[in-house]
Amino acid sequence: MKTILVTGGAGYIGSITVRRLLEEGYKVIVLDNLSRGHIESLPKEVTFIKMSISDEQKVLALLDQHAIDAVIHFAAYAYVGESVTDPNIYYNNNLIKSLIFLECLNKKNIKNIVFSSSCATYGLPKEIPIHEGLEQHPVNPYGLTKLLFEQALKFYSDNYSLHFVAFRYFNAAGAAYDIGEDHRPETHIIPIALKVALGEIEHFELFGTDYDTSDGTCIRDYVHVLDLAEAHILALKHLDKGGESKFYNLGIGKGYSNREVLKICEEVTGKKISIQEKERRAGDPPVLYASAEKIKKELGWQPRYELKDMIQSAWDWHKINLKGYV
Ligand SMILES: NC(=O)c1ccc[n+]([C@@H]2O[C@H](COP(=O)([O-])OP(=O)(O)OC[C@H]3O[C@@H](n4cnc5c(N)ncnc54)[C@H](O)[C@@H]3O)[C@@H](O)[C@H]2O)c1
Repeated sequence: MKTILVTGGAGYIGSITVRRLLEEGYKVIVLDNLSRGHIESLPKEVTFIKMSISDEQKVLALLDQHAIDAVIHFAAYAYVGESVTDPNIYYNNNLIKSLIFLECLNKKNIKNIVFSSSCATYGLPKEIPIHEGLEQHPVNPYGLTKLLFEQALKFYSDNYSLHFVAFRYFNAAGAAYDIGEDHRPETHIIPIALKVALGEIEHFELFGTDYDTSDGTCIRDYVHVLDLAEAHILALKHLDKGGESKFYNLGIGKGYSNREVLKICEEVTGKKISIQEKERRAGDPPVLYASAEKIKKELGWQPRYELKDMIQSAWDWHKINLKGYV
């Protein structure tokens, strides 16, 4: 049985991926400091270690104690807006702490790493759909920390024995295994819209209605967390077979405008979502959607869920978990 160390495994995408790993027969160890995650989202079969990725001596000891076959590195702060207003914590957590962690893995000769990067590394792309060969010029500290860690992985892989798959996720959405999205503060469009539908929030603040898009609002690509989890299983198998280091986009390759997302939220919930139109936010690119052809061709990844499925599963979870994890 292979053992996978999952950092940030108590977070939204991490905890759902942990369930898929268990189903696939992996042994799972979760390392999370619970700064933003929820212990309630972890099943009892996993070994949970409450610790920061940067606690060097403890991480080295953990790697000595357990024979780790691969690492999935989700742990990070993940709010674009917060990274603009408080860049220090992003450089510190997502870059400095991640580099300390990476060096621990290198010292202990861990060979295979899967990393959660982001479409935010592309900044304002010159082409749509976005493919992996495009230049990356992030426009916020969050995107930059992800890009710099991608580059660190590349140089480590060129010069040491480590191999990686770095995934550039587009917008993760949906719920599964009784686990849903409960970020604090919540910044993602679907959970906020559903909270408006539930009466938890009065209005949905729609930032920017005068973009050069079909209905004036931003267009984004959404991908179900279960499809993301599946990609991680494929990446582990690829690395286990001695596959090369890779960068892959993870999106469904289709863009939905903010108004379209809100309309589907109304259809799914049967509730009117009250909208307050606001000015554009600085640094919000008008249109972002992925070409995911590379991972489809090379690893055989095939997203199974459409946006409506994501919203339906999220709604089913939010209705029962009105206040999230309490
Ligand atoms: N949610 C998205 O749409 C999205 C999009 C692109 C990329 N990502 C990336 O995917 C990953 C997971 O995102 P998420 O939405 O599940 O976020 P999340 O906040 O729900 O999960 C992150 C987890 O990491 C833990 N963590 C943070 N810093 C840590 C540290 N120093 N040591 C140990 N644990 C630490 C938190 O406690 C939390 O459990 C992140 O790296 C994020 O940047 C997410």
